[in-house]
Amino acid sequence: MAIDRITTVKLKEMKAAGAKIVGATAWDFVSAGNAESAGVDIVLVGDSLAMTMRGDPDTLAITLEDMIYHSKMVSRACKVSMVIGDMPFMSYQISPEQALTSAGRFLKEGGVRGVKIEGGRKLAASISKTTDAGIPVMGHIGLTPQSIHQIGGFKVQARTLDPAIDLIEDARCLQEAGAFAIVLECVPAPLSAHITSLLEIPTIGIGAGNACDGQIQVTADVIGLTGANPPKHAKRYADLNSAWTDALREYVKEVREGAFPTDDQSFSAGPDLQKAIDDKEL
Ligand code: KIV
Repeated sequence: MAIDRITTVKLKEMKAAGAKIVGATAWDFVSAGNAESAGVDIVLVGDSLAMTMRGDPDTLAITLEDMIYHSKMVSRACKVSMVIGDMPFMSYQISPEQALTSAGRFLKEGGVRGVKIEGGRKLAASISKTTDAGIPVMGHIGLTPQSIHQIGGFKVQARTLDPAIDLIEDARCLQEAGAFAIVLECVPAPLSAHITSLLEIPTIGIGAGNACDGQIQVTADVIGLTGANPPKHAKRYADLNSAWTDALREYVKEVREGAFPTDDQSFSAGPDLQKAIDDKEL
């Protein structure tokens, strides 16, 4: 039977039908498999994995090679969800040609079915070049973590009129350039509601209120994997970090006490070997 994959066309139809789109990040085969089993539409191999999985202070150091490595594992797990590769810092900012080359590598080597690019209208030419080559591009405006040193911290963007007008113009330009969806990160809820109503393509919010066409979250925040306090825009649905550590603590205790392994986790010897051992022949 043909697989009913999530595509850019389907995502647009979901917006038109008022059906909420759900995105979550993944970094390997297990996290991607769980996202797909849970019914996530867009599985993003987000560069936030640099912080959540590698312990980096920000997303700047991760390379295209690193991202392709993670994308391969994620793509192998997802048959239905649309896997998007997050273009890392300095893999697209130099020129539209560089953006297309990096996006092409993401698809050919990482197996993703689209890429995400941070930035507003200045990236329009790169988005056009990439989409003209048949590669779906998701925009990302508002808080763009790759510009953290320019923005001056992980904080809400466009809270006042002039930056809000700028952001609306960015959103329009990205749609015009061919983006199939736009992530709005840490944007006041009324502004993202307004942008959502202006665009034909879906808006996917993270810290952007409930009126967006969909939501995306960093999975480590949602499942409580890192132990760090989640940001204000995240909701923790589980505390896997505690469950994981508690399980390992119990294992450590049982090994030290000699309570693990028991016969249940051990293998018996063949009859001749057992006899030789019992008869002290060895
Ligand atoms: O890298 C990431 O996880 C992201 C999401 C926050 C959208 O870009």
